[in-house]
Amino acid sequence: MTPIASPRLSRRAAVRSLGAAVAASPAIVACREPWAHAADRPPIGDGRDQIADLEDPAKRPQPAAEENPGDAPAERPLVLSTWRHGLAANEAAIGILREGGSALDAAEGGVMVTEAEPDNLSVGLAGLPDRDGLVTLDASIMDHDGRAGAVCFVQGVRHPIALARMVMEKTPHVMLAGIGAERFAREQGLEIVEQDLSPAARERYEKWLIDSRYEPVVNIENEPVGGPDNHDTIGMIVLDGEGRLAASCTTSGLGFKMHGRVGDSPIIGAGLFVDGGIGAATCTGLGETVMKTLTSFLAVERMREGDTPQAACEAAIRRVVEKNPNPESYQVGILAISRDGRSGAYAVQRGFDFARSTLEETTLLDSPSLLETRG
Ligand code: GLY
Repeated sequence: MTPIASPRLSRRAAVRSLGAAVAASPAIVACREPWAHAADRPPIGDGRDQIADLEDPAKRPQPAAEENPGDAPAERPLVLSTWRHGLAANEAAIGILREGGSALDAAEGGVMVTEAEPDNLSVGLAGLPDRDGLVTLDASIMDHDGRAGAVCFVQGVRHPIALARMVMEKTPHVMLAGIGAERFAREQGLEIVEQDLSPAARERYEKWLIDSRYEPVVNIENEPVGGPDNHDTIGMIVLDGEGRLAASCTTSGLGFKMHGRVGDSPIIGAGLFVDGGIGAATCTGLGETVMKTLTSFLAVERMREGDTPQAACEAAIRRVVEKNPNPESYQVGILAISRDGRSGAYAVQRGFDFARSTLEETTLLDSPSLLETRG
C-alpha cells in the first residue's frame, strides 16, 4: 500500500467531508432501520438452558460461534468500534484506509468524527460535564509496534485523540494530564475551544443540579438525547490491509463525575491494548471496573495463550464480573481483533452494540453478553 503524501492533512479532510458521506451511505442507512433500539431487538438465543454459574468456571456455557456476531470469519482490513456512534467513525476509518492511510491513521481519524459530533453526550466537547459543570476528556492510542500515547483530564481540546497521538509521536512520555496536556496541545497548534456546554449537556446538567445524585446508567450511549444520564466511550480497533493493528479510545467520561476523575479510556491495557504480533482489544463501560482488571490487556493475553478473539472477550468480561460485585448495576463491553482478522465481542449486560466495517460494508451488530445467558 502506498503511503499518502500527508496523512494528517488527509485525515482532517476525511473528517470534514464525512458528514455528507455518512448521510449518503446506503450501508449505514440500511443497517440503522432494523436496529432502532436494543430493547426492540429479538433475544440472541433463548438462554433458558444456559444458566451461567459464575462461581464455577467449568460450568459456564460458551455460546456457539454462530450465536456470536463478533466471531465472524477473518477479514482484512477490518474496523470495529463501540456503540452505534461507531457507524460514522468506522466509515471515516475505512475511507482513510481506502486512501492509503495506515491502521493508526484510521484509528485516529475515525474517532475524530465522534469527537466532533455536536450532540454526542459521551465523547468530545459536547459531552456531559463533571459535577462542577466542566467537560474533561480522556483519550489514548496505540499502534502495531507497541507505541502508546494518552491524555487525561484535558479541557477545551477539540480532538484529544490527536493530542494522544502527538504525545506518542513527539514526546518521550506515554501520558500527559490536565494543564500540561493542554499546554502541549497549544504548542502543537491543535484546536482549543473555550469551555461552553452543548445545549443538550447544559439541559442535562441543570436537571442534575436539582438533586445532584450520581447514578451511572448502563447503555447510556444508546439513549436518545434527553434520555437518562451518564457515559461512555468510543473505542476503535483497526486491522489494515497490510496486517498492521492499531486502537484508539476517547471519551468525556462519566457524566457528573467528581472533578478530576479519570476513567479507563486513557489507561493503556484498560481502555485499549495492542500487541501487533497477537491482536488488539478495546473496552467501553464503567471505567472503574475496567481499570481494576486491565480488561483489554487481559483479552490480548488470552489471545496470546491461544484463545479465539471471542473466547478472549468472554474471559475478560468474566474477570470483570468476578472482581466487581453487582454486575447488574454496570455495563462493560469489549471488542477484539486477532492479527489474522478474526474478531470477538462480549459484554456484561445486553444492549452493547458495535459497528463492524470491511471495505464492502458497515454493519451494526449486537454483542452477546454474560448476563443474558443467566436467563
Ligand atoms: N469508559 C469510560 C469511562 O469510564 O470514563
